[in-house]
Amino acid sequence: MKDINILAIETTCDETSISIVRNGNSCLSLVIATQMDIHAKYGGVVPELASRMHTEVITLVLEEALEKANIKLDNIDAIAVSYKPGLLGSLLVGVEFAKVLSYTYNKPLIGVNHLIGHIYANNLESKLEFPLIALILSGGHTELLIMEKDYDFKILGSTLDDAIGESYDKVARVLGMKYPGGPNVEKAAKEGKNTYKLPKPLDDDTYNFSYSGLKSQVINLVNTLKMKGKRININDLACSFQTAAIDQITRKLDKAMENTNIKNVVIAGGVSANKYLKEEVQKICDKHNGKLLVPRMLYCTDNAAMIGAAAYPLYLRREFKDLSLNPESRSDISV
Ligand code: KG4
Ligand code: ZN
Repeated sequence: MKDINILAIETTCDETSISIVRNGNSCLSLVIATQMDIHAKYGGVVPELASRMHTEVITLVLEEALEKANIKLDNIDAIAVSYKPGLLGSLLVGVEFAKVLSYTYNKPLIGVNHLIGHIYANNLESKLEFPLIALILSGGHTELLIMEKDYDFKILGSTLDDAIGESYDKVARVLGMKYPGGPNVEKAAKEGKNTYKLPKPLDDDTYNFSYSGLKSQVINLVNTLKMKGKRININDLACSFQTAAIDQITRKLDKAMENTNIKNVVIAGGVSANKYLKEEVQKICDKHNGKLLVPRMLYCTDNAAMIGAAAYPLYLRREFKDLSLNPESRSDISV
């Protein structure tokens, strides 16, 4: 069979990324221009700045991605773009850019759901084996779902309020750490002990999650201690928060593996870069004789290679979009 080279574009939030992916599993090049330093000054992503930065760098990112893969646009088989969910202004830059390339070079256009991209990042490591349980853990989503086959998603549970990554970022902020908070909280937690008593949210029979109460509890604790002039042990508080945050994930995964008897588990999204999470999820997989698949760090956080991987099954099915494709800021895990 002929090799299929997909040029994939990712601009849902604050990374401008383009990648060339062959046959949905081989990354020929991946370029990521991050805006992290710019947004760090403001303690979070500023949407207007994000879209302006995407516009400024996207053509340079394209040139570099083609050069690194040693390929010309004429030899690309399709243009893929993440078109939902995300920041509208940011998505718009990627979607319009993809449409121009698709029209100018007469290549089919593929619209990819960013969340599905996170799951298919795993295909860049090793082929997804079905049935599987997937955990999407990112700045905007916390989902537990089952896939029986390619592009078949059955949601078991979701967060009822904040996403897990969002709670890491907010806790980081109140602890005086820089954006993005996740890696900084993880670093502090590694040096600390689980000494602060925090709630155990949604200790129930559902597969849903809740992070708002846990986050508020940490914020209230910090404010109360500050008011009383008491010392806060930042490392211990980070560790206590992380223990409670990840405990929710492992509890629900344990139940899902028990009830479904599914052995393959994949984790996806920015929070899956967390080492403590990987260790704890591995323990649950070991308990059930399961197999865990996690992408390498580079493919965990937002990147275009995962969009190229997720676009491949759609290319095979000829599920193409036309030039009326519009970005959608909110979306569940639909195609
Ligand atoms: O998937 P992603 O790059 O963007 C979204 O689609 O949201 O995820 C970003 C989220 C942020 O909330 C960030 O703090 C979190 O992933 N994150 C982490 C770690 N690395 C990134 N959370 C915990 N531990 C980490 N090591
Ligand atoms: Zn993401």
